[in-house]
Amino acid sequence: MHLQRRNRILRQSPAIRALVTETILTPNDFIVPLFVVEGENIKEEIASMPNYFRLSLDNLAREVKELWSMGLKSMLLFIKCRDELKDNKGTEALNPDGLMQQAIKTVKNACPDMLVMTDVALDPFSSFGHDGIVDGAEIVNDATVDVLAAMSLSHAKAGADFVAPSDMMDGRIGAIRKTLEENGFTKTGIMSYSAKYASCFYGPFRDALDSAPGFGDKKTYQMNYANRIEAVKETLMDIEEGADIVMVKPALAYLDIIREVKNAVNVPVSAYNISGEYAMIKAAANMGWIDENKAILETLTAIKRAGADLIATYFAKDAVKLIG
Ligand code: PBG
Repeated sequence: MHLQRRNRILRQSPAIRALVTETILTPNDFIVPLFVVEGENIKEEIASMPNYFRLSLDNLAREVKELWSMGLKSMLLFIKCRDELKDNKGTEALNPDGLMQQAIKTVKNACPDMLVMTDVALDPFSSFGHDGIVDGAEIVNDATVDVLAAMSLSHAKAGADFVAPSDMMDGRIGAIRKTLEENGFTKTGIMSYSAKYASCFYGPFRDALDSAPGFGDKKTYQMNYANRIEAVKETLMDIEEGADIVMVKPALAYLDIIREVKNAVNVPVSAYNISGEYAMIKAAANMGWIDENKAILETLTAIKRAGADLIATYFAKDAVKLIG
């Protein structure tokens, strides 16, 4: 055979493969989600997320120092709220001494340069396990947005660098931006969960925070996974309303959406490699059916290749060690 082009030339050795690699993961790509609980010296493993833990504030301080030493510079805070503090108004979410507000201060004290992002949604604080205020069977939009804006302000006051609204109410980005502006928080960023789908893959996360919806599902606010164009509409509106970073979530079953959004916007795009995606790799690896380390790198590289500029992932520490 005499071929004009032999594509295998560019794959024949580690050196040439390294030279022509298109997508390279670095520690700068990752946001580390962390789960916080009340108490002291607590490090509880989450049953459906092997080797991932809920941490008390003292252990949170230790953890962020370790992350920083590994080159991980951004994190996303979630708190597990005690049942007695849950209601239908998000009262505890606004408590200036609440667990989230304390967690923000703890991280900033332990590691002042760490970028602190906070989850903004009512589900961990809701007696119904919904992201908004419930009236009958309805998740009420506008009253919820008022609470989300107040919650964001409370996080900013505690020292959050970014708030990350994950609720999918209409108009919340504009309301949050307005509230931050009116109160002088002109440096607080908004990372919006813009295209967040109603997904079965959030299951392990809801175990972690004990936040599963008490009735119904989240389909009246989170998106229908059959839809693609709608993701672009949601994302462009969030940018218009003031989002600094937009997010697609989940990541793996939505790589096409990540690319679609990446091509449509001029702000950084993040993707959330969520709890169920973590659990699937952990479970298959535990059975000996896949190689965990290879699956982690292949997955994260695919998410970045799809168009994610940054990735929230429970595998951040593993990935940093692997790409070392
Ligand atoms: C809460 C929230 C969820 C996740 C992040 N923020 C769950 C949900 O919407 O039910 C999921 C993260 C994950 O599964 O890793 N609004």
